[in-house]
Amino acid sequence: MDLSGIRKEYTRGGLNRRDVPPDPLILFEQWLATAVGAQEITEPTAMAVGTVSADCRPSIRTVLLKELRDGQFVFFTHYESRKGRQLAANPQVALSFLWYPLERQVHIEGTAERISPEESDAYFRSRPPGSRIGAAVSPQSRPIPGRAWLAEAYEAKLAEAESSDTPVERPEHWGGVAVTPVRIEFWQGRENRLHDRILYTRQDDGSWRIERLAP
Ligand SMILES: Cc1cc2nc3c(=O)[nH]c(=O)nc-3n(C[C@H](O)[C@H](O)[C@H](O)COP(=O)(O)O)c2cc1C
Repeated sequence: MDLSGIRKEYTRGGLNRRDVPPDPLILFEQWLATAVGAQEITEPTAMAVGTVSADCRPSIRTVLLKELRDGQFVFFTHYESRKGRQLAANPQVALSFLWYPLERQVHIEGTAERISPEESDAYFRSRPPGSRIGAAVSPQSRPIPGRAWLAEAYEAKLAEAESSDTPVERPEHWGGVAVTPVRIEFWQGRENRLHDRILYTRQDDGSWRIERLAP
């Protein structure tokens, strides 16, 4: 399969060192808001999450960013999933947002920590009932006997919730993960592969060093 002829010029915008704010979270919020407003982007909050196993093997998967708060990026997942177990052993994490129609990419590196149970409860309660049940019954990342097994687990939990007339509570194995960034790189596609790359690196005093990187 020859893919060498597939090429696209990137012409939608530019990123100047002198125009970017001192705080990368400000720029990230601007870019995210643009992505959320872009009709052609179906999952503007989707991001790839890279983690590392105990024997240093990297792995990656997509999750949804659910909150930006106090300079942290928050997503929700199963704490006993593959990513959850890897993060418990090694909190180093990388995030990648890619918004093709905007010709933009943001790469974030930092450390992950669980948010408080109370915060996870609050988000869990905001989820639709079906999503709550799904999170409660799925042993994410574990082998299961088959689709029917999952459907039965779902139906059993649904029946239990309906008979007790109480909403499904958050299981302890499910909750939020907050990523504190130390490195954020903004990428804007440009013509002739001379893309703009602006890198923010967090300094000991909490400020950010800003540099342009070669594309
Ligand atoms: C668009 C999209 C959004 C997703 N959002 C989440 C999410 O918010 N949380 C989550 O745990 N998994 C989410 N997933 C599923 C993950 O990609 C992944 O399959 C799952 O978390 C198990 O990953 P792991 O085995 O590496 O831990 C999403 C997948 C896609 C394609």
